[in-house]
Amino acid sequence: MIGRLNHVAIAVPDLDAAAAQYASALGAKVGAPQDEPDHGVTVIFIELPNTKIELLYPLGENSPIQGFLDKNPSGGIHHVCYEVEDIIAARDHLKASGARVLGDGEPKIGAHGKPVLFLHPKDFQGTLVELEQV
Ligand code: CO
Repeated sequence: MIGRLNHVAIAVPDLDAAAAQYASALGAKVGAPQDEPDHGVTVIFIELPNTKIELLYPLGENSPIQGFLDKNPSGGIHHVCYEVEDIIAARDHLKASGARVLGDGEPKIGAHGKPVLFLHPKDFQGTLVELEQV
């Protein structure tokens, strides 16, 4: 059911420092910061030949990233995103298999303008999983 790895999201305590490291030390193609107020994050997309990295930094008072950074002050992998062709069919299949969908269970428009859902990390080996319809 799942397709390509769309991105790996990394929460970072210093967005400028992380972007500079990916650009210079790792020699990656690093985009400009984008504020996503609906998601409480500022994002920088890094294009790799086979997938993307998203650097996440808290935006606003109730950012979902802040608690993660409080527990992981030097940053860390926050979630992985897999592509699916039909997000409703994927959700229903996962719910039937016992996985928990976060929030109200309805897809939201994600940082790439496409429908996304998040699955409970306790149901996936301690990893927060995002599904994106492509
Ligand atoms: Co994501």
